Amino acid sequence: MSSVSSTSATTGPLTCGLSRAAEEDLPTTIFVFGASGDLAKKKTFPALFHLFQHKLLPKRTRIIGYARSNLSREDFFERVKSHLGADAGNDDIAAFLGLCLYVRGRYDVPDDYVALRKVAEGQESALGAEGASRRVRVYYMALPPSVFVDVATQIRHTVYDDACTNRIVIEKPFGHDLESSRQLSKDISALFAENEVFRIDHYLGKEMVKNIPTLRFANVFYEAVWNRNYIANVQITFKEPFGTEGRGGYFDEFGIIRDVVQNHLLQVLSIVAMNQPRSLGAEDVRDRKTEVLRSILPIQLEDTLLGQYVASADGSKPGYKDDDTVPKDSTTATFAQCVLHIDNDRWCGVPWVIKAGKALDEAKMLIRIQFRDMPNALFPSLARNELVIQVSPKESVYIKTIVKEPGLSTNLAMSELDLSYHKRYQDIHIPDAYATLILDVLNGDHSNFVRSDELDEAWRIFTPLLHQIEAEKTAPLPYAYGSRGPEGADEFARKRAGYKRT
Ligand code: NDP
Ligand code: BG6
Repeated sequence: MSSVSSTSATTGPLTCGLSRAAEEDLPTTIFVFGASGDLAKKKTFPALFHLFQHKLLPKRTRIIGYARSNLSREDFFERVKSHLGADAGNDDIAAFLGLCLYVRGRYDVPDDYVALRKVAEGQESALGAEGASRRVRVYYMALPPSVFVDVATQIRHTVYDDACTNRIVIEKPFGHDLESSRQLSKDISALFAENEVFRIDHYLGKEMVKNIPTLRFANVFYEAVWNRNYIANVQITFKEPFGTEGRGGYFDEFGIIRDVVQNHLLQVLSIVAMNQPRSLGAEDVRDRKTEVLRSILPIQLEDTLLGQYVASADGSKPGYKDDDTVPKDSTTATFAQCVLHIDNDRWCGVPWVIKAGKALDEAKMLIRIQFRDMPNALFPSLARNELVIQVSPKESVYIKTIVKEPGLSTNLAMSELDLSYHKRYQDIHIPDAYATLILDVLNGDHSNFVRSDELDEAWRIFTPLLHQIEAEKTAPLPYAYGSRGPEGADEFARKRAGYKRT
């Protein structure tokens, strides 16, 4: 999950925040299926470019975009270039595009995959990789889930090569409930071995999420208090200041729980809560995360508060149902707050509050660990200590700490021990999560990818709740676009989790 570096933060060179070159520089072909789409344009190609710029792609790499759209080479390059970043140098861009090519093909026609394979073989041969004892082929599925299995099947039958190391990268959603996720896992496992499958949850590539095991297990004082004896409650919060404009049709089928809670936030929870793994190896880490999930009972409706945004108070921002692609009677939640418990020795009795919402007052993703009250009364009780790990927008870790008010006063004041990354690590550019994760794929490192049993547990926890909400058409509480969420959300956290606002 992390490597040891002696670089000093203040004196070290400008770095890209990524440190390992891709595995052994094996000749590598990266296929991007759905190369004409949104994810490929906004995330996959920019991440590959970032790795290229920092010399982290294997020296002999080819990137082959594949999709049905009739794109000329120039059209394709324009799409790829559109999100490479304003400060990307022209020479770098030209050199990167020199690695890329586009193949037009259908998703369900075997002959088109035969043509694709021939293009790949031609490229590999030009790289001198033909007959190389080890080559790598990465199949990146930047595609809607409706075609995942068909495309994976065609890849396995036609493009997969036993003489290569083959790796398939799959994007969420991994099903929409326990049953469909199991079916997808079954279909994929009939085609690829689990060690060939990389299920992306991009939150696992975020700097501060990757930092959690280091904070916890490399610092004696965190681990000492990381349990029910000292921690009163934990909150994991995701807030976005924009609604679902433009993707209401997609969102209405999923809702906020499937969109971010069951995956991103539960993944973060499992890392915050896990016991120390035996090693940083992928299976040891994922074993520990899965243990946490196994200790969580399915979430009940009474432990959940749902909301749906309406137009902003001044009418300038539309409500969720004002979107033409959303049914007028939709009860899909755009806000959810759940309280859950982890039934193990470390966490028994500690409530975990997971909160996620669209169209709220700010952009923020953070983990707030609230400590218990001081047991003695030497000082009047001011507020509780909190450790906050802010994942975005600005990476930081701070501890809310009580100090004496400076000066002649003997009053108490709440202050922060503050590690804000933008102040402390000014020379380091934090890479996008996708760059980190694609580098992991190239290195064959699964620690930041979701294993099938983890996925199964995550769906087990949420599926009964999701089915009940759908069957009963549970009415979400309205909240105004740009507000802090439905009225009663703060009270819910206070009552159900004993959270005390500091
Ligand atoms: P798009 O809707 O842009 O689809 C990608 C490509 O797939 C399209 O360019 C199109 O290519 C092809 N395609 C679209 N619809 C269909 C269809 N019904 N049948 C067959 N092919 C189709 O998807 P995204 O790029 O937005 O997302 C891809 C995957 O990544 C999804 O699973 C999504 O959930 C996930 N994801 C996306 C994110 C994003 O920011 N966009 C973020 C996180 C995950 P063509 O017609 O040329 O073949
Ligand atoms: C995606 C969700 O998985 O994550 C989006 O589908 C959400 O709805 C996004 O906006 C949030 O990711 P990030 O990296 O912007 O916090």
